[in-house]
Amino acid sequence: MRVLQVTDCHLAADPGADYRGQSAERNLHRLSAAVEAFEPDRLVLTGDLSEDASPASYERIVDWASGFGCPVAWLPGNHDDRSRMQDPFDAAGWDAGPVIEAGDWQLVLLDSAWVDEPAGRLTPERLEPLKRLDGMRPVGIFVHHQPVPVGAAWIDKVPLVEPDAFWNATEAAGGVRFVAFGHVHQRFRGRHRGIACLAAPSAAANSLAGMPRFTPGEAAPMARWFVLEDGGRWSSGLIGV
Ligand SMILES: [Fe+2]
Ligand SMILES: [Fe+2]
Repeated sequence: MRVLQVTDCHLAADPGADYRGQSAERNLHRLSAAVEAFEPDRLVLTGDLSEDASPASYERIVDWASGFGCPVAWLPGNHDDRSRMQDPFDAAGWDAGPVIEAGDWQLVLLDSAWVDEPAGRLTPERLEPLKRLDGMRPVGIFVHHQPVPVGAAWIDKVPLVEPDAFWNATEAAGGVRFVAFGHVHQRFRGRHRGIACLAAPSAAANSLAGMPRFTPGEAAPMARWFVLEDGGRWSSGLIGV
């Protein structure tokens, strides 16, 4: 099972809009050849797909991601508005989970986003999908906000707040192999409570890792791939242009 996580596309209503000094529109399309070369079985889009939650930006995300001919799963980020994504994404046949059966694996999509709040929160209701897992199979969790600090003050001030509730529910679920997130616009790979924590860099613009402020110099666009094997073995890495 080949899964590609694409995140933080930050498309705007105006395709010519500038995002952190770059064209989000052009960068997303520059990523297409690398997506095709990876031959994903599934795309997982992990939020901040739009910069301005405009219907036009969501239509262009649908056009782009539908072009790869594989199932698409999604969850929102803090720049998104779920109420504006749901209709166009449902019409495209996209899957919001929250639990997706993927071969031997279960993939969980958690919604940590609240409109007009840059930080993330997972209420007991939003953590409920973790209680539906059977506990016998390997699990990968996708969520927009980082549940661990990534060592960069500018983005660590807007993390997943009160992460202990998330980690307690994750441990209780059993079988969780990794937690994959976006939001941080940089590379990151760590571990918490024995579970791998992985960031996907942005498809629009990235900072050098571990800096106090957003610091240009890292490549964009990028995406994170996963190869998930029956029995729970997995591997992951980054693709770019
Ligand atoms: Fe973002
Ligand atoms: Fe974000």
